[in-house]
Amino acid sequence: MNMTKLSDTRTLSNGCGIPCVGFGTFLIPNGAPTAAAVKAAVDAGYRLIDTGFIYENEAAVGDGIRAALAEGNMTREDLFVTGKVWNTERGYDTTIAAFERTAAALGLEYLDLYLIHWPAIARHYENWREINADTWRALTDLYRAGRVRAIGVSNFLPKHIEPLLETEVAPMVDQIQYHPGMMQTPVVDWCREHGIAVEGWSPLGMGRLLEDPVLAGIAEKHGKTPAQVCIRWCLQTGVVPLPKSQTPERIVSNAQVFDFELDAEDMARIAAMDDGGFFDTDSTDWNK
Ligand code: A2P
Repeated sequence: MNMTKLSDTRTLSNGCGIPCVGFGTFLIPNGAPTAAAVKAAVDAGYRLIDTGFIYENEAAVGDGIRAALAEGNMTREDLFVTGKVWNTERGYDTTIAAFERTAAALGLEYLDLYLIHWPAIARHYENWREINADTWRALTDLYRAGRVRAIGVSNFLPKHIEPLLETEVAPMVDQIQYHPGMMQTPVVDWCREHGIAVEGWSPLGMGRLLEDPVLAGIAEKHGKTPAQVCIRWCLQTGVVPLPKSQTPERIVSNAQVFDFELDAEDMARIAAMDDGGFFDTDSTDWNK
């Protein structure tokens, strides 16, 4: 489907719609800055708000959501709010409790999407499969109980997702680092083959791509910014980007990605970009 606005949705494997571009909140300071950024994002038309326990800003995300809803232009059902269970809470009971704390901090009755933030991996845990399976069982039960409309994983590689496919509910989403220079083609293709939607965190390469000469050239050609090129590229490759910014003008401009199209030559140039030294699930310690 051709996306024309931020609220247009892709369809998850359980039939739930997910907005085609979201707003990320990692590293936005807790309190007023986060609440203001979330409010500005919703005002700019973003409908997907992504947070995680470890960002330490869930309560402020909730404040921003309430401030936006208070204007009366939309209802809770128009928003798509994502939370993530942090590594320290892996396991069944701890994950259920973490979800309840997150829902309470956000001030929401239900979440739209709840993810396992990082997989337990073989390098750190001999029983990584069992740990992930226990955490997943908690998400499955939360889903069945109607506390969350969709469930998934984040930073999982196919080998981490595979065991979960044998359970009763398969993950609907994998949220991974995804941007020009970090295409993760094997993961994205595998997810697609298995009906798992991919979300991309740091679509601007943590801001590092904004000076990239290839992207700058493509941006100039279309009269757009490198950030808009990165976000448009995600849209055209079928991945849901989650750009983040604390700057109101950037929050707005990052959403202006529906009035141009990258052509085959642009896409080929981006696909040929070097991996800029980014890291993955097996090499980082963020999964510890
Ligand atoms: P700021 O919050 O000051 O706007 P990513 O989403 O890839 O992790 O990138 C986030 C970083 O990129 C943040 O530091 C953010 O800074 C910056 N950023 C976001 N949008 C833009 C933009 N349009 N132009 C320049 N920098 C941006």
